[in-house]
Amino acid sequence: MPARIVITGAGGQVGRFLGAELTARGRDLLACTSVQWDITDPAAGDDIVAPGDVVINCAALTAVDVAEAEPARAYAVNATGAGNVARACAARGARLVHISTDYVFGGDFDGAPRPYDVDDPVGPRSVYGQSKLAGERAVHDALPDATVVRTAWVYTGVGSDFVATMRRLESERDEIEVVADQTGSPTYVADLVGALLQIADDPGAPPLLHVVNTGPASRYELARAVFAGSGADPERVRPVSTDKHPRPAPRPVYSALSTARFDARYRPLRSWRDGLGAALAELN
Ligand SMILES: NC(=O)c1ccc[n+]([C@@H]2O[C@H](COP(=O)([O-])OP(=O)(O)OC[C@H]3O[C@@H](n4cnc5c(N)ncnc54)[C@H](OP(=O)(O)O)[C@@H]3O)[C@@H](O)[C@H]2O)c1
Repeated sequence: MPARIVITGAGGQVGRFLGAELTARGRDLLACTSVQWDITDPAAGDDIVAPGDVVINCAALTAVDVAEAEPARAYAVNATGAGNVARACAARGARLVHISTDYVFGGDFDGAPRPYDVDDPVGPRSVYGQSKLAGERAVHDALPDATVVRTAWVYTGVGSDFVATMRRLESERDEIEVVADQTGSPTYVADLVGALLQIADDPGAPPLLHVVNTGPASRYELARAVFAGSGADPERVRPVSTDKHPRPAPRPVYSALSTARFDARYRPLRSWRDGLGAALAELN
């Protein structure tokens, strides 16, 4: 029988979608919001996790600019909190799939950039990235068999994520400006969730994986693709540089991820354009 899945951060973007998918598949599920399991409380997991469970840690402080302004809060959740989850799993004999981010990478390349592999040197530029990297290390210190899954630029297309925002702006404005000098790996939440479930059901899952839709894209390219996929003229999206829209926390100029290690063991994800097409087909 497949293991029970316990989700932390079940009220968030990934947690909600993951819970819905597990319910649709008829899986044994315990979905914990931050009220049911506050991961900053070191004892909170003890009464929740049972032997044989697979915990998928979706809890994090993800607001990159908030993290920059409030590092202690970011570290409490993303680093200490992640370690607490891993310790609860280690104490109870549960497995852990922990979600991390492309922002652990710095984005600086001597030559032409290429998607980051799992073994590439890290170098986070923001407090968010630094706290998430500290979380990866805290997880593996407490539970070396845990699987850390780095993903990137996740969207559902509803709410306030990048794709949802582009869809809204398409209907509100004639033209929009989007940064063309940030490149990453846009990832449809449904594809991420499918991959997380493959990993959760694999007791031999590797300790570190990258899971994204394939192929790098700039924010500008992604915005154009959202317009085109919504039946709008992509020429209404104008490219600008990041310094035109300064933000408190630095973003890596390049943080696309290579999925080579994931692809060697699991069903590979589709390209970012195909993932976006599927998302828009669901939404339109
Ligand atoms: N979204 C992306 O583009 C992206 C990219 C790369 C990696 N990731 C990673 O993917 C994971 C899921 O992110 P997401 O997009 O689903 O983020 P999200 O929508 O911000 O959800 C995060 C969830 O964590 C919960 N949380 C915050 N503090 C907590 C605490 N102390 N204890 C328990 N839960 C707490 C939040 O609950 P409250 O609202 O109740 O505080 C929220 O429901 C995170 O690890 C994130 O770093 C996301």
